[in-house]
Amino acid sequence: MTSSSRARSFGAAAAAYAQHRPGYPAAAVDWALAPVAGGALRLLDLAAGTGKLTEGLITRGTVTAVEPDPAMLAQLRARFPGVDALEGSAEAIPLPDASFDAVLVGQAWHWFDADRAFAEVARVLRPGGVLAVLWNGDDAHVDWVRGMYEAGCWNSTVVRAPDDEPSLPAHPAFTPDGFAQFTNPIPTTVDGLIASLRTHSWALTAEPAVREATFDRIRAYLATRPETAPGEFDHPLVTDVVRVVRRERGPYWNA
Ligand SMILES: C[S@@+](CC[C@H](N)C(=O)[O-])C[C@H]1O[C@@H](n2cnc3c(N)ncnc32)[C@H](O)[C@@H]1O
Repeated sequence: MTSSSRARSFGAAAAAYAQHRPGYPAAAVDWALAPVAGGALRLLDLAAGTGKLTEGLITRGTVTAVEPDPAMLAQLRARFPGVDALEGSAEAIPLPDASFDAVLVGQAWHWFDADRAFAEVARVLRPGGVLAVLWNGDDAHVDWVRGMYEAGCWNSTVVRAPDDEPSLPAHPAFTPDGFAQFTNPIPTTVDGLIASLRTHSWALTAEPAVREATFDRIRAYLATRPETAPGEFDHPLVTDVVRVVRRERGPYWNA
């Protein structure tokens, strides 16, 4: 399975994605936007999917959403009819130069061609504007979460180690501006957790028999755990945010 087929897999489950995937904590969005806070912000949600991050942006400025998958975009448009939602990709953003104060990317930077995406984001950001890249992931310090990974036989292509700190590669158009992590507990049930996991690219692209066997093992494991067996519990997510600031255009970069 190639990375590009996984990147294109989400539309097949767009409605389930909209229903079951988590959003982002307000504190993470506040931190992402801190360098440009104040005034009327022009915000681009890039790879916006069904609008999970859009939801946290609409109270903070005028939001434009860009997303390549028509089925994901249809969910976003139905949920947020006031948002200007355009078909496009990170490598070809269909918007003018210097038209945003911040570009935010939720759970998607790893699908981009990083060099081309950096050049396009640098083009649409004003000097001093922010690129913030967010990821929701499990808190793998939690014992039952690590047990679930073992039950799923998941390796590092599916999950990350507890203390991994994500980063962006260096790019001459951007100055690194820090990393922050926020708790994002999601109330759920075993059925809800499995419904959410079914919208991940590994599940969408797995052989059906392998996928169902994986979920059978996870369901059986969660039934043995006192934290998850009785009914409602919190899925302990953490939201990682990496922030970089667009430099003034200068002789050191020509994007
Ligand atoms: C895991 S979803 C994240 C959606 C949304 N940002 C969220 O936080 O829920 C990844 C999204 O990235 C989109 N995507 C994949 N490759 C892309 C690219 N090259 N440029 C822009 N979006 C892309 C997919 O269509 C999908 O909607």
